[in-house]
Amino acid sequence: MGYQPHYLTEVRTAQANAYAPYSNFKVGAYLRTKDGKAFHGANVENAAYPMAICAERSSLVSAISEGYKPGDFESITITVDADKPSSPCGACRQFMKELCDDDMPVYMTNQNGDLIESTVGDLLPLGFSGKDLN
Ligand code: THU
Repeated sequence: MGYQPHYLTEVRTAQANAYAPYSNFKVGAYLRTKDGKAFHGANVENAAYPMAICAERSSLVSAISEGYKPGDFESITITVDADKPSSPCGACRQFMKELCDDDMPVYMTNQNGDLIESTVGDLLPLGFSGKDLN
């Protein structure tokens, strides 16, 4: 189906809930499941800075907590307020590698509606996964 314009509305709504008093860099994530449900995530920071949780991981933790399983996800859309959409951090790439299909689309957006499209596999080439533990 590919990226739809309403994904931007959804992800910008998620971003509005970000708790980012330290960086002032608000991030939103809109995770869609293959069975048509949506999970929203936002970054949640802490005075102990390294404890911050990214928007992408927030949305995935929410979905798994509600009973969704690895491979159940259709796409993730991320948004930031910046000239150029930013891409997920290394920890979130590894998290997506664990829970999402390698060919799952990752849509990166900003307040202008600029769009960069990639996939979980392309964002983490030669990534480590459970298959490597055999
Ligand atoms: N952040 C995300 O939520 N997702 C990313 O992919 C990159 C960074 C958050 C973490 C922190 O709260 C703020 O952005 C600045 O790094």
